[in-house]
Amino acid sequence: MPTVEIDGRSIEVEAGTTVIQAAERLGIEIPHYCWHPGLSVAGNCRMCLVEIEKSPKLQIACNTVVTDGMVVHTTSEKTKAAQRAVLEFLLINHPIDCPVCDQAGECKLQEYYMDYDRQRSRVALGEKTRKGKAIPIGPHVMLDQERCILCARCTRFLDEVTRTSELAIYERGDHAVIALAPGKTLDNPYAGNVVDICPVGALTSRDFRFKARVWYLERTRSVCAACANGCNIEIYHRSGRIYRVQPRANLAVNQYWMCDDGRRSVLGLQGEGRALLPLVRGEDRFEPSAWDVALEAVAERLRASSEIARGRIGIVASAQSPNEEVFLLRRLAAALEAQLAGIAWSPPDATGDEFLVKADKNPNTVGLRLQGVPLDGVGRLLRRAAAGELEMLVLHRAPLLAWAERAEVEAALERVPYLVVLDRDLGEEAQYANVVLPLATHAESDGTFTNHAGRVQRFECAVPAPGEGRAGWSVLAELLRRGCGQAGFASAAAVFDALAAEHDAFRGLRWATIGPHGQVVTGLDRSHVPASQPASL
Ligand code: SF4
Ligand code: SF4
Ligand code: FES
Repeated sequence: MPTVEIDGRSIEVEAGTTVIQAAERLGIEIPHYCWHPGLSVAGNCRMCLVEIEKSPKLQIACNTVVTDGMVVHTTSEKTKAAQRAVLEFLLINHPIDCPVCDQAGECKLQEYYMDYDRQRSRVALGEKTRKGKAIPIGPHVMLDQERCILCARCTRFLDEVTRTSELAIYERGDHAVIALAPGKTLDNPYAGNVVDICPVGALTSRDFRFKARVWYLERTRSVCAACANGCNIEIYHRSGRIYRVQPRANLAVNQYWMCDDGRRSVLGLQGEGRALLPLVRGEDRFEPSAWDVALEAVAERLRASSEIARGRIGIVASAQSPNEEVFLLRRLAAALEAQLAGIAWSPPDATGDEFLVKADKNPNTVGLRLQGVPLDGVGRLLRRAAAGELEMLVLHRAPLLAWAERAEVEAALERVPYLVVLDRDLGEEAQYANVVLPLATHAESDGTFTNHAGRVQRFECAVPAPGEGRAGWSVLAELLRRGCGQAGFASAAAVFDALAAEHDAFRGLRWATIGPHGQVVTGLDRSHVPASQPASL
């Protein structure tokens, strides 16, 4: 393995490693625009020029492979002069847009200008070449040609990853522009990624433009829950409001990308229709109530049921539920001798592709299956309810009226004497419920999902639930404590660790050591796990 010295520090790297990658491993930042770890090397921006001893000219770090004994200088006078020259060149025709540009705060032109340049422009404003501004190039992306530095990240993404080639560079010299190919629109299912990888404000999100300055936003690590792939994401939020979602790199799951539906699914969590308050049906009224009252009403029923209705309670757990909630539902079912049935519903027209998107639109089907919840028992449960064989039915994140045969569900809900609905949205099932308990989404609580490949991945609470919604694990833990006399849990972490200690498939995992990229469960049938993610569509 070759050893390279960069700025006086040595590192041994694998053959084929480039100077920019070796420097990154040493924690040395080499400025760059066109290089992106998920794309081919273009070598066109020249921002990464470095001095390499014995080399007659400066070399680009992104396309220079380390050789044994190589000595690199990233802060020498020659390197600094090259960096200033490249920045001056890139800024010749750049508009003076910074105060009104949405990329401000995360623009690599602004950042590198301050870090490596700081010269006054030698080009008068009126002499700059003018190009197109605020051009809608697709349903989600806006193009500003003047701000573009022609790094070709967007075109390489569209050529190499989605292979849809909607954008290309046209014209020559200082008239060169990024533009749509004739007859094309940037509307492929992964189009939003070009906004993330554009290093300047040339490609911006039509959803996010002018909504918030990035330096006001906080970031929270999460996982997309819109399909079984479980793409790693970061949720950007402020004062309880989600502003945008970006992919978080995980080479084993989503590489550097995510789909546009996934982005919108997280933004849509804060839409209308959420259940805001616990609801309890009284003698003749269904009204908002305090959590304590609602929990006690259900717990009282559970206590009574455990004596008089053993075996006559049904619980439906859906694959929308995190592992922790499935675990607590299993405990509840065991304590009450209830019939627990799982459901992993996806719209009939749901499709996947060869890249990231899965046809299974649930984040935790594998988690549900690994915990042994049968996925074929809901029909039988509904038939038992409709036949008057159940005293109580609990629907957990399972809006069955939207998912299953309507007449069959209605017959069950009308007949069952006591219905408890736990969900994030106030669905039609609430009309039949005795108690409705509003739950937080995965953006509003901590927990884990197990993705299609058996990878357990943590998500963290980014924003509070609207109204009085609570984390599902805390509601179920409280019902177990009050209704079944079991010890409570103080956190999602404690629930997960209990699951891992108890269940073979999760054994060996710990909340604290799952890490940012998740861990694959030990008990999974390996034939179910793809060897690796495809690199492109
Ligand atoms: S639009 Fe952005 S990503 Fe595309 S070439 Fe220009 S600067 Fe690069
Ligand atoms: S591929 Fe699936 S998990 Fe990934 S962003 Fe899209 S919907 Fe979300
Ligand atoms: S990052 Fe190396 S030439 Fe652009």
